[in-house]
Amino acid sequence: MQLTGAPTHAANYGSQWWRSAIIYQVYPRSFADSNGDGMGDLPGITARMDSLAALGIDAIWLSPFMSSPQKDAGYDVSDYRDVDPLFGTLADFDDMVARAHELGIRVLVDLVPNHTSDQHAWFQAALAAPEGSPERAFYHFMDGRGEGGSLPPNNWVSMFGGPAWTRVTNPDDTPGQWYCHLFDSSQPDLNWENPAVQLAFEEILRFWLDRGVDGFRVDQPHAMGKAAGLPDHPDVERAGAGFIEGEPSPPMWFQESVHPIFRRWREILDSYDGERAMCGEAYVLPLSFMALWVRPDEFHQTFNFRYLDSEWKPEILFRSINESFEAFDSVGAPSTWVLSNHDIIRHASRMGGVTGRPTASDGIGPNDPQPDRELGLRRARGATLFTLGLPGSTYLYQGEELGLPEHTTLEGKYRQDPTFARTGGARVGRDGCRVPLPWEAGVGAANGFNETGLAWLPQPELYAEYSRDQQEGVAGSTLELYKQALALRKSLRIGEGSFAWLPQFTNERALGYRNGDVLVIHNFGTDALPLPQGKILVASQNGLAEGQLLDPDQTVWIAI
Ligand code: GLC
Repeated sequence: MQLTGAPTHAANYGSQWWRSAIIYQVYPRSFADSNGDGMGDLPGITARMDSLAALGIDAIWLSPFMSSPQKDAGYDVSDYRDVDPLFGTLADFDDMVARAHELGIRVLVDLVPNHTSDQHAWFQAALAAPEGSPERAFYHFMDGRGEGGSLPPNNWVSMFGGPAWTRVTNPDDTPGQWYCHLFDSSQPDLNWENPAVQLAFEEILRFWLDRGVDGFRVDQPHAMGKAAGLPDHPDVERAGAGFIEGEPSPPMWFQESVHPIFRRWREILDSYDGERAMCGEAYVLPLSFMALWVRPDEFHQTFNFRYLDSEWKPEILFRSINESFEAFDSVGAPSTWVLSNHDIIRHASRMGGVTGRPTASDGIGPNDPQPDRELGLRRARGATLFTLGLPGSTYLYQGEELGLPEHTTLEGKYRQDPTFARTGGARVGRDGCRVPLPWEAGVGAANGFNETGLAWLPQPELYAEYSRDQQEGVAGSTLELYKQALALRKSLRIGEGSFAWLPQFTNERALGYRNGDVLVIHNFGTDALPLPQGKILVASQNGLAEGQLLDPDQTVWIAI
């Protein structure tokens, strides 16, 4: 059966860097630990920056490193203008940016504007201030419902489980108002209707731009606006904390009021030199709706969650890629492509079991069915190469270049994601994809993450065989596959290139497309696939030569 009905995408050669960049997500806690305390840090990143340059990336996105009590791994910021001592100092940050820039790597930092930590001075001031005060107006404080205000003000639930409201105690020990938190109770939501909040963040943007960052990855931007009066979620039974695609927006997601804020931020970024850019973690679907977030005067990019959430099946990917080009081209924005990040099961494990984003759990625990490691890696390599051929910007998550699997047997006692505790372990949470990276096999118990072997999350034993030193320079390793593909992507200008499906390879057995003079073909079937003539540029199938067949789960790039 031929899949039909498809857009084409025109090349965009010579355009701004962010339209085609390979952006590598560094998760500072787990990248490299310079002082041996078990927690990755900024000097560790600086020391290893050359390995990222050798990989062939254009930019890094640095996940949270700002001051934080670390209740949600740093997505609970207590000071937006400082580095948490766990990770170093502002001087270490400056050194890291300088080293990155020296190597031609741009730096985007994670900005978390929807909520602060409950330890932030603003929240502490709000707690100390009376009801109705300007301090409380930084957040969403409301009276409870029911007798004595003992019930939450509305029916909203937290993304991490449990109610989205916590009641405070007044200075005289009587029960007080409630505050809203769409995530953990240690992450109170800011009130973005308040101009003082808006101004405060404009200054925070400038603080980091003045320090030389190339832009921001903005956390949960679609949560920032709340419908006036904070009414009940109309369908909380079906939608839980989320939304139902195609139905009217619930009162805590996608409010129109956020767009002028991002326009203002865009003006600020544009007022600096050097094409500063911001990527929104806008979980907004369908993509025609997400496209409103990347209009020319708003975000430069958003994460393409449709692609990330797609099951690795040809008809699903075909639709998701079509939807991507249709939506993003309609506003002149690049699509981003992403397969892994710090919130989702690593694709080398996802693809060895359930193939889509799991709905019941956001991790795999020791009691869950375990993925097939070999199948997962084979598919992941094929999926990556298929993805890297698409025009647009691509995000990589640290460790995927090693083919790292998820830690799927992490015991409960190590788990730190608030989801685990808030659901009594029913959802194991996201720690399994956040485990420290293995650099040198056998160097300490954490394989060169540091020399002491301490690690805030223990590595599974099998990580030694994925260590970077075991793959560096080894033909056919996943690391060398990534390097080869990224080098070709650059020299052939794949990211700025064009897109058109190959009709003979769009069916239930294969997907193929053309980007400039390169054909990219993936075999979804169970039989080996004959290929068109042409020079083989790179293949996920080791040793594939012209005239040979493409095995199942494999991808090839062919020059015509
Ligand atoms: C984003 C982050 C996630 C965090 C959440 C709350 O989704 O990626 O890790 O828990 O926002 O800040």
